[in-house]
Amino acid sequence: MGFFDARRAPAVVKHGLLRRYCPAFAHKAGSRTGGRVTFLDGYAGAGCYDDDTPGSPLVLLEAARSVADRRDVDAVFIERDPATYARLEEVLADRCKGQPYLPLPGDVDDHLEEVMRRSNDRALFAFLDPFGPALSRERLCWLLKQRAQRRLPTDVLLHVSVRSVWNFGSRLTKAKREQRPLNAQDEAFAGHLDRFLGPDWWRSDFEDAAVVSDPTGSERIAAIALRVAQRYADAVGKETGYLPVSMPVRRRPERAPIFVLTLFTAHAAGVWLFADCIGQAGLDWEEAWRDAEASKEGPDGQMGLFSGGDVSIFDRDAFERNHEEQWISIIQSNIDKLLDERRPLVLQDHTAAVFGSTLGTGARGKHAREAVKRLYRAGQVDHKGTGNFERDRMLRPVQRQWPSGATG
Ligand SMILES: C[S@@+](CC[C@H](N)C(=O)[O-])C[C@H]1O[C@@H](n2cnc3c(N)ncnc32)[C@H](O)[C@@H]1O
Repeated sequence: MGFFDARRAPAVVKHGLLRRYCPAFAHKAGSRTGGRVTFLDGYAGAGCYDDDTPGSPLVLLEAARSVADRRDVDAVFIERDPATYARLEEVLADRCKGQPYLPLPGDVDDHLEEVMRRSNDRALFAFLDPFGPALSRERLCWLLKQRAQRRLPTDVLLHVSVRSVWNFGSRLTKAKREQRPLNAQDEAFAGHLDRFLGPDWWRSDFEDAAVVSDPTGSERIAAIALRVAQRYADAVGKETGYLPVSMPVRRRPERAPIFVLTLFTAHAAGVWLFADCIGQAGLDWEEAWRDAEASKEGPDGQMGLFSGGDVSIFDRDAFERNHEEQWISIIQSNIDKLLDERRPLVLQDHTAAVFGSTLGTGARGKHAREAVKRLYRAGQVDHKGTGNFERDRMLRPVQRQWPSGATG
């Protein structure tokens, strides 16, 4: 099955996030640029899948339409593969008449200067979604720093292919264990990863895995690849001054993540918004993998319970009802811990720690609000959980300190 035949559950997460994040970004960031916003889709693909499901270009243009009464949104789509580009042009011409967009054939790297010029007085949301290693770290940092210097609102959402790091990492581990050099093809791929991740630093963890017991355990190599993706995001954030927030994405719950979606944003509010939107996208993912599973052909050749029509077997509301108590209680305990560590505490400055293991599972801002309300009722925080609670400073309520030995 080719990539653009039909959309799989991990792609549902990307699109679910774009669909919700981009209108909110246009609204917020566009208010600082006179309403002007650019959406860049650097690895655009064909525009839609063969079964007609929208790909990222159509999702972005739909997001642009949803804010068209308040924002002037321009979109740029770059695609390197000529056949895919031809299909993209057709899809856009057919579905997006009258909307401002610019399709560009070729390599994203070669068009970055033009994108910078075009968005010189605009807020920019860039989506970079390759199959494997993406834009070089140097170019990504250049883009982020240039935009920050000019005080231009900018967010970049990057697909970090953990699977390609992990595939290559296992070859590196194997070569090290067998005490032989990499072959020419692997050396070339290592060069791509060096450009993407930054030279060399990421290799040592895979090489170290060669000397521990069970070095080929795929679980272990996958975990190293995930750590590499996290360290990469932290290092780019540190170098550029942007805040990174990441969400690993899997095919199914028990599988290792195949990619990480990392957002680089200049503002803590962007991180909070990401958490909120990825929570919704997590519900989309639950629906997608469950429906895909239910529609699979059985071993006897019989169709599954669900044949993949328009109706889903997934009851979103029931799923949420069944999980929200657990989400709220985890978030409540996370905030409770943070209240001991940070005085005062501003939740949006610690979004990842607030959501913890619930990030991307369906939990979102409203569950965090309920957690704060419960802490307030229990006398554990001085904020009632009203208004923009995530932006406000909160503390433990002042408690009367009795001298030791004194009785009431
Ligand atoms: C994962 S697909 C994109 C899917 C699309 N973003 C979506 O969500 O519908 C990656 C695409 O990037 C294209 N591509 C790969 N390297 C590229 C490069 N350096 N510049 C531009 N496009 C590239 C590939 O041809 C492919 O169509």
